[in-house]
Amino acid sequence: MEAFSSKILLIIFAFSFITHSIQANEGPYQQSNTLFIRNSCSSTTYPRLCYTSLVKHADFIQTNQVLLTGTALNVTLASAKSTSAMMSSLAKSQGLKPKEAAAMKDCVEVLSDSVDELRRSIDEISHLSTSNFELTMSDVQTWVSAALTDQSTCTDGFQELNANGEIKTIVRGRIVQVAQLTSNALALINKLATSHP
Ligand SMILES: *[C@@H]1O[C@H](CO)[C@@H](O)[C@H](O)[C@H]1NC(C)=O
Repeated sequence: MEAFSSKILLIIFAFSFITHSIQANEGPYQQSNTLFIRNSCSSTTYPRLCYTSLVKHADFIQTNQVLLTGTALNVTLASAKSTSAMMSSLAKSQGLKPKEAAAMKDCVEVLSDSVDELRRSIDEISHLSTSNFELTMSDVQTWVSAALTDQSTCTDGFQELNANGEIKTIVRGRIVQVAQLTSNALALINKLATSHP
């Protein structure tokens, strides 16, 4: 028994050592890239979600605020698209009460609007330049705010339902995540808008 637990301790020790050396091996650039993401995310409403959703793209973002904001929009779009796809297949599933099916259909519709608004924002922000900076940022702020409003219509509609517990929980969880990603993207957009090109 003694030998067994010391073996486990040794394994735990070895793992923490390996993890530690991996972290220690991070170059100075990677460190400043992840630090940049952490600092930028600290001004969002959901900083932890912001950080975990963006840190995988740290090498691409480096310390560029425009790339950071564009990536946040990309990540949000991907999540909105997959949630929308999940909801449209759920909306067709058997055993939904008419009210549930209707709420689901409404959500698919508003999610598709927010996918359009996010796409438009990504397209416009990819052409950001000094000469169109203010106009672009103002458009993007408008569209992403509209996307956020659309998503809350869906969350509210679902909340009012006395729906089947499990589906309601899954759907709500997914939409809440899309809405939190959108809110974070909007915070980064607002921050970029106040910086000068
Ligand atoms: C967003 O996604 C598009 C398509 O995958 C890609 O071409 C573009 O580089 C991405 N932009 C940013 C800022 O991540």
